Amino acid sequence: MLTGKTVLVGVTGGIAAYKAAELVSLLVREGTVVRVVMTAAATRFVAPLTFASLSGNPVACDLFAPAAGVHAHIDLAAAADLVVVAPATADFLAKAAAGLADDLLTTLLLACTRPVLLCPAMNTNMYRHPAVRENLARLARLGYHLMEPDAGRLACGTVGPGRLPEPARIVEHLAALCPRRDLAGYTVLVTAGATREPIDPVRFISNRSSGKMGFALARAALERGARVILVSGAAEVEPPPGVELVTVDTAEAMRSAVLSFAPECDLIVKAAAVADYRPARVADQKIKKDRERTLELVRNPDILQELGASKGNRVLVGFAAETENLLESARAKLTKKNLDLLVANDVSRADSGFGSDTNLVWLVFPEGPPQELPLMDKRLVAERILDEAAGILAGRRPTGSGLTGATDGHNH
Ligand code: C5P
Repeated sequence: MLTGKTVLVGVTGGIAAYKAAELVSLLVREGTVVRVVMTAAATRFVAPLTFASLSGNPVACDLFAPAAGVHAHIDLAAAADLVVVAPATADFLAKAAAGLADDLLTTLLLACTRPVLLCPAMNTNMYRHPAVRENLARLARLGYHLMEPDAGRLACGTVGPGRLPEPARIVEHLAALCPRRDLAGYTVLVTAGATREPIDPVRFISNRSSGKMGFALARAALERGARVILVSGAAEVEPPPGVELVTVDTAEAMRSAVLSFAPECDLIVKAAAVADYRPARVADQKIKKDRERTLELVRNPDILQELGASKGNRVLVGFAAETENLLESARAKLTKKNLDLLVANDVSRADSGFGSDTNLVWLVFPEGPPQELPLMDKRLVAERILDEAAGILAGRRPTGSGLTGATDGHNH
């Protein structure tokens, strides 16, 4: 899986830096091209020559080293298929969480759009410190992959979590993250987050969508090589770097954005929670609480249904948040909106749907039985959805007529 890939190994200044030597050696044995970047502190533990000898490539340590070229941080980030930082110290995690860029490794991380695996290793008390916990939570929100340290006897004599996992396990984890490039050459549009329908200049109608599922899809599609347009309503999470971000407020604005990009798209995934209704009138001034009022609502256009009605060769994936009759409603929506896949999730559970990091979904297809996925991280749900979408796209790749364009109906 890792054979032929370029893995950038970041080494930071902890005693576990010596284990990174074995990691590099294992990766090289897998047929991986390894580039090592060390922080200044790491070079106090292990000599760069060790990594240069094991990887067969020069080791980069200095953002300003003339030999590395003026754009070393960009070039190294661009050349890597995957990045792993092992060990990742508390100091490095804090810098990465804050987006600091004061050395080569932290700077190239900001320039990197590929999966990054961080392997924290430190003293147990340090690992449990709320500041470190907060940084790790923020890094997870920013899209970094984190590997739990092993528990055991640490170099400092403490017993507890904080030990760098065995290099062989890090290699396995990296192999699992290794991006398939099955969406290379495709344009993918993802909608995410919640629309906001104004009532007056200060109030709106919205919903609990956090944007996490849609952003995870956008990130995964980007990692799989697609050009990604992310049309986002209100969201609680950071958009993945590297996407073409279009932020919108209302369902009408989302509709215009989606319809204007649709002709360029091969796959459209509508993860956004679009408000079904909007106030019939938007007050110019803040509405006063001087009397009882009734808010009159009108239906918003159903963007997905519109896309389904003139779908051409595009693959369309919708979401259905349900609190009852999950599969029945999902099937009806799939047919009505002319979709290739509908992701149905039960939003009545606390660990699934709006706001949570995990999701429990069914994948519903036009033909064949629906598939229930186990409760899993939204990032893994995103990968499964894209596995299916990439399969449908591959089956549909035309033999010379171009990827988009009008054919009637869908290919099932
Ligand atoms: O019918 P329902 O709202 O449950 O369908 C949800 C799916 O339809 C989602 O994929 C959502 O993004 C999309 N949708 C839409 N426009 C609307 C309402 C929902 O595109 N006005």
